[in-house]
Amino acid sequence: MSRSAASFVCQACGARTRQFFGRCSACGGWNTLVEQREAPVDNRRRRPVAAPSEAEAPGRAQRSEPIASVGERPLQRLSSGYGEFDRVLGGGLVPGSLVLLGGDPGIGKSTLLLQSARAMAEQQTVLYVSAEESAQQVKLRWRRLGQEGPAGQERQEPPLSRLQLLAETDLELVLQELEVLRPAVAIIDSIQALHDGELASAPGSVAQVRECAAALARIAKRQDTAVLLVGHVTKEGVLAGPKVLEHLVDAVLTFEGDRFASHRLLRAVKNRFGATHELGVFEMRGQGLAEVGNPSELFLGQDGPCPGTATIVACEGTRPLLVELQALVSPTSYASPRRTATGIAVNRLHQILAVLEKHLGLPLSRFDCYLAVAGGLDVEEPAADLGVATSVVASFRDLTLPAGTVLVGELGLGGQLRAVAQLLGFVRAVVPRGSGLGAVAAALGLQLLEAGSVAEALVAALGVDPAAEG
Ligand SMILES: Nc1ncnc2c1ncn2[C@@H]1O[C@H](COP(=O)(O)OP(=O)(O)OP(=O)(O)O)[C@@H](O)[C@H]1O
Ligand SMILES: [Mg+2]
Repeated sequence: MSRSAASFVCQACGARTRQFFGRCSACGGWNTLVEQREAPVDNRRRRPVAAPSEAEAPGRAQRSEPIASVGERPLQRLSSGYGEFDRVLGGGLVPGSLVLLGGDPGIGKSTLLLQSARAMAEQQTVLYVSAEESAQQVKLRWRRLGQEGPAGQERQEPPLSRLQLLAETDLELVLQELEVLRPAVAIIDSIQALHDGELASAPGSVAQVRECAAALARIAKRQDTAVLLVGHVTKEGVLAGPKVLEHLVDAVLTFEGDRFASHRLLRAVKNRFGATHELGVFEMRGQGLAEVGNPSELFLGQDGPCPGTATIVACEGTRPLLVELQALVSPTSYASPRRTATGIAVNRLHQILAVLEKHLGLPLSRFDCYLAVAGGLDVEEPAADLGVATSVVASFRDLTLPAGTVLVGELGLGGQLRAVAQLLGFVRAVVPRGSGLGAVAAALGLQLLEAGSVAEALVAALGVDPAAEG
């Protein structure tokens, strides 16, 4: 292939230069120049568009077709070998699709994909391209991960594994291997480490990442290979992060978790073949990642009820999770009290504290308030409000909720509880009045405590009136 002319185009004003500058000489924007390869000019496209003559028109091939007559193929899905991974993908990998997996350094992206490659290779050919680690390193990890199967049980070496390994950073060689091998699944670890020799910029730059991903997308669509790309999450502007790729790929998954806790959460940010906001939960062990079948165990405290804790239902995708909230309220020694929240937006805590102060007359502005969600989960569910309010008041009054109580309800600024859509079985539930859950509660053997305001809900949950001097 001949080296085509490269040029740099300002992403803000469109000015072109032959050389890279940190600042665009036309519009003065900083770091806006991006390398672009000039496509050979196609002269046929340049012909002036004229009305077709009578003689010419019948000879022209029509390229569009009625949408009703487009042939349909049933959407096939390849299982990744892990139920949690499949659910986040919307049921499995779709042949010919591009999936981007992003995540912080060291979170376990390579581990997840190598484990999955191992499981998938029992059914079809899988190519694992390691652009970051040597073949030896990948082999060592493969050995370590082989001790356990997907379900966590001891497993023998698969007799006929069709897992092919290629430690290569040159895009051209990777594309050749894809064409020769024609695997059902290809894993590229990582897209930032691949390098297109046609471009002058360094691996990981915006131009390189975009070109490499576009070339992989073309080959994936042509030969129906499902491609999984690993993308690094980096500070914006320093390296090309997965943002550049988000429009190009079919699905964007993020792998996150506290590096010091063992559980990892897999989420879909974008998915052309399924719903987003599904959550997959894994646990990092010595032998690799294991699926967590009942994630509520992770997010519920092990010590049983104590003052200032409350259990809420947080809906993640199609799955409700039980999550424990912990609050600590103590007299402040500052002019303005400290409020911190982990796992919940601090502004929501401020709002709930203001509602409690105004409508129950609790002097919370003289108290520091700390709130934490157990297990490091981020709760966005509005129905968590009642749980937050209850845990704060329970800590303030030093009360313990009866075991087996779950709290559901969104709090309005007037202290009213808003109705919520979903609920799952528990022993005792405090819910907004008029939620229409009576029949459901009866079927689940649930004692339903209905409340119209936060004051009523707190009396129902705690058994005492927190507004009364105690
Ligand atoms: N011998 C081991 N025993 C237990 N856990 C290990 C072992 N080796 C690695 N790990 C775990 O695997 C994690 C690294 O996983 P992995 O290399 O898959 O991450 P990554 O996201 O691909 O990182 P990078 O961004 O550097 O490529 C470590 O943080 C550690 O928790
Ligand atoms: Mg890695």
